[in-house]
Amino acid sequence: MGDDGIVIASIAGSSVEEWEDLFNLINRSKADMCELKVSCPYAAEMEIKIRAGAVELAPMITEIAKKDLSIPFSVKLSVFNNDPVGIAKDVEKAGADAITFPARTSGLMIDVETGKPMAWSAIGGYGGPYQIGHGLAWAARLIRAKISIPILATCGIWSWEDIISYIMVGATAIESATAIAIRGYRIVNTWLREIESFMQRKGYDTLSEIRGISLEALLKPSEIQRALEDVHSKVDKKKCTMCGVCLRTCFCDAITLERMGAIVDPEKCDGCGMCVEVCPYDAIRIVRTDF
Ligand SMILES: Cc1cc2nc3c(=O)[nH]c(=O)nc-3n(C[C@H](O)[C@H](O)[C@H](O)COP(=O)(O)O)c2cc1C
Ligand code: SF4
Ligand code: SF4
Repeated sequence: MGDDGIVIASIAGSSVEEWEDLFNLINRSKADMCELKVSCPYAAEMEIKIRAGAVELAPMITEIAKKDLSIPFSVKLSVFNNDPVGIAKDVEKAGADAITFPARTSGLMIDVETGKPMAWSAIGGYGGPYQIGHGLAWAARLIRAKISIPILATCGIWSWEDIISYIMVGATAIESATAIAIRGYRIVNTWLREIESFMQRKGYDTLSEIRGISLEALLKPSEIQRALEDVHSKVDKKKCTMCGVCLRTCFCDAITLERMGAIVDPEKCDGCGMCVEVCPYDAIRIVRTDF
């Protein structure tokens, strides 16, 4: 192993001694890099304080790893603590080469037929494509906090767009589990092809050209301009098939279906953009009221 690709070992010790033993083991292996697992949601739920559930102890474990490990390492952190960004900064200060972030959240699923908890009948690791927004938000927070070591972003990746999104908020690389478990390792080749074709289409030569570009336009919630009185949505009648999807979505009752297609009443429309998102025929856009 390690000759044709890069091998990243993943380890978790249950005591300082065990972490040290594992570091020695890794030093004797051919691994190119190592990931320290201090953020497993199961371990956190079991209140295991030194092994994978020990995100607060991450800076201390990082210091030992810096001393003992002979290869670069990343520390996998979760947001299950009071100060995820502060812990990430401490981990960086303690000498980590990268941060894997954010680890899975905790979750619970109920089988309503039996009334019993699903899977392992316990609260534990919970994730999947629906967590992409959570992952992107946390990756963006970390990068905005000026963490300067690489972020290996993980959580919710399903498509090549998710990977590019992580790069666009500043991640250096990504880590995926659910998509690969469900779709198989071949999905990686598909993603690579799709990313290559996106890069060509957009005229980008390297990922560094797009790394972090979304952060420039990312507003703080206090900076959001609410009550945009001078915008409303407008339907392109040539594209509208009168499917009615937008009608169901509009909370403002601003859309009616006429003979020629959907019509928006600018007086009622508050410019929320929901109809733009749901129109299957790309027939709606937001325009300025004086447009
Ligand atoms: C079946 C499965 C087992 C996992 N086991 C571990 C684990 O033992 N330790 C760990 O840190 N993360 C574990 N994870 C989490 C992944 O390493 C990764 O952080 C996360 O699943 C990435 O998000 P994604 O599944 O949305 O791609 C596991 C994920 C899955 C799907
Ligand atoms: S969702 Fe789009 S296509 Fe369907 S009625 Fe509305 S504007 Fe027309
Ligand atoms: S932008 Fe919002 S308020 Fe305006 S028509 Fe569309 S869904 Fe309704």
